[in-house]
Amino acid sequence: MSKVKVVFWSGSGNTQAMADAVANGVKSAGGEAEVLTFDSISVNDVANDSVIAFGCPAMGAEVLEEGTVEPFMETYETRCSGKKIALFGSYGWGDGQWMRDWQDRLKAAGASIIGGEGVIANNAPDDAAVSQCEDLGRMLAQA
Ligand SMILES: Cc1cc2nc3c(=O)[nH]c(=O)nc-3n(C[C@H](O)[C@H](O)[C@H](O)COP(=O)(O)O)c2cc1C
Repeated sequence: MSKVKVVFWSGSGNTQAMADAVANGVKSAGGEAEVLTFDSISVNDVANDSVIAFGCPAMGAEVLEEGTVEPFMETYETRCSGKKIALFGSYGWGDGQWMRDWQDRLKAAGASIIGGEGVIANNAPDDAAVSQCEDLGRMLAQA
């Protein structure tokens, strides 16, 4: 089985902790995971991956981080049809609107969301959120 890429952006470490938990879940199901930042890759690096995970916190006003993640997604959306994508991210004071918008736009572009919806954690992921991320990783390994 090829390595599952877990690609994230994190300003203060919360989404990074979720990425690590997703990767641990992949490994616990016997898979291999590679944790990468959005800043270190281009769309071309992941365009052939049929299964992948992306993490980004709620930023701006319920949007993706606008410097790197939003431009990446605008290009990725044109190439994601048929892919199985896991989404995760941390938020602060909102209600998860950024994640609903993120999964909706990828579904509209023809991808399916692993687990049906993204995993969100309020600020630093607590034990329950870490477990959800690990479960997401196990689903990724079996997708
Ligand atoms: C510039 C900025 C904008 C933010 N906008 C939102 C927002 O619209 N909705 C929300 O729920 N949280 C918002 N937050 C809170 C972050 O999503 C929250 O602190 C999250 O845990 C950050 O994750 P990270 O540690 O992975 O960067 C914002 C934080 C910053 C710094």
